[in-house]
Amino acid sequence: MRSLAVDVIKQAFSQTPAEKLHKKLYVAICNCILEGSLRPATRMPPSRDLASELVLSRNTVLRVYEQLQAEGYISTRTSSGTFVTESVLDNLNTQVARTTQTAQPEDRSSLSVRGLEILENASASPAQWGDFIPGVPDVNSFPHRTFKKIYDRISRRLNPEFLTYDAVGGLEDLKAALSDYLRTARGVKCSTDQILITEGIHQALDLVTRTLCNPGDHAWIEEPGYWGIKNILRMNAVSISALDVDDQGLVPQTSPVEKPKLIFVTPSHQYPLGSVMSLPRRQLLLSQAREFHSWIVEDDYDSEFRFSGQPIPSLQGLEEDSPVIYIGTFSKTLYPALRLGYVVLPKPLAAPLKKVHNELYRSGHQVIQAALAEFIKEGYYAAHIRKMRQLYSKRRNQLVELIKQHLGEEYLGYFNSNAGLHLIIQLPPDADDMQIVKQANAEGILVRPLSRYYFNQHKSKGLLVGFASIKDSDMLPSFIRLANIIKHKY
Ligand SMILES: Cc1ncc(COP(=O)(O)O)c(C=O)c1O
Repeated sequence: MRSLAVDVIKQAFSQTPAEKLHKKLYVAICNCILEGSLRPATRMPPSRDLASELVLSRNTVLRVYEQLQAEGYISTRTSSGTFVTESVLDNLNTQVARTTQTAQPEDRSSLSVRGLEILENASASPAQWGDFIPGVPDVNSFPHRTFKKIYDRISRRLNPEFLTYDAVGGLEDLKAALSDYLRTARGVKCSTDQILITEGIHQALDLVTRTLCNPGDHAWIEEPGYWGIKNILRMNAVSISALDVDDQGLVPQTSPVEKPKLIFVTPSHQYPLGSVMSLPRRQLLLSQAREFHSWIVEDDYDSEFRFSGQPIPSLQGLEEDSPVIYIGTFSKTLYPALRLGYVVLPKPLAAPLKKVHNELYRSGHQVIQAALAEFIKEGYYAAHIRKMRQLYSKRRNQLVELIKQHLGEEYLGYFNSNAGLHLIIQLPPDADDMQIVKQANAEGILVRPLSRYYFNQHKSKGLLVGFASIKDSDMLPSFIRLANIIKHKY
């Protein structure tokens, strides 16, 4: 089979100015190796093939290979061929580091005001895997083999429609499986045609904001709250009121100057503090939404993981035809890279929002969706959630004990309910949680500063500590390192 390396070298060869052919080929291959387009351990094309592709004599190619071998760029393994040397990596790394250092300075002059605002408020962490990372489930526990078996089975009798664009807001089978699941597990009132499959909650929030808000409209969010929603509102020029959260959830304004078009809440498990919205608060919010003609956006990101008491039913299901757009995700129950979430749209919004979604995002991934539908229908999804619930409950208890033992009970966040994938370590108001996080992150401990989740000036200090994905054997040593950083920093 013709190798990709031939094409890479051929392209570099055509762009290399040199008079002598062997020099030209030598420079082209060196550049490919140093720039990384021929990576360490890549098999070099056989000299005969390369000579024929580049219309060179085989001797020219052999001469260049000999020179590259003498200089350590490539090496020959008896009876298996010629390869880019593994140790070239060190040289390559130095070269890449040099290129990065001399890279063009950032030019933001052509960015829009909104784009600049997003950059100024950028909050997504560059590191997404490490000790105590909040919000990331134990991705190693996902039953990859089972899922692959289902996926392979579907791939063998592939429906061609799975390989073209999705134009109906997600695969029917998945929407049907989800509506059954949401009705029983989350008390959501829905039919299959109200469901829209998205690439996660994040995309759903963007769709809802873009489609329902005009620039200058107003939205309520929770204070503190999910950072992602703030940047989506900024990008859509929607003004924000960040309303306090107490032990009953969001505290609504009774006579707001500006009525909100959208109200974003996490009633089952407030993000990030952890309180559960009480029934009176839910009823008040629903009646306000009806009075203001607002839509409540219920972000039900991790409600499957409640470790004691009854599951908290959705706000959406509390009333018939409630003014609630319900949003959920597979990021926490399965794994974030799946990038699959869902919206339960109120009936009057179902058709228009699906259409806008189709116009804006051109969806796909139907084979994965079909596999997921089977995974749910065959009971694997519920079984996985049950298993993870036990595991996370155990890890959460361990973390609570470590906080009490190494820091003190007063460090446990006020509203931490027995749920979710993270806990809050509460810090005194004068603590610099950003500094603590900076040092912890440098040591591979990926906690996040609570103050980063606030919109207004008054910010509580604390740390979001994820317990879901940390290895049991790492829990104690990593926590001791974190506790030492906290104690040392103030
Ligand atoms: C409260 C909340 N909502 C939404 C999301 C994003 O979910 P998704 O991965 O489905 O975009 C997160 C991710 O951490 C979250 O914490």
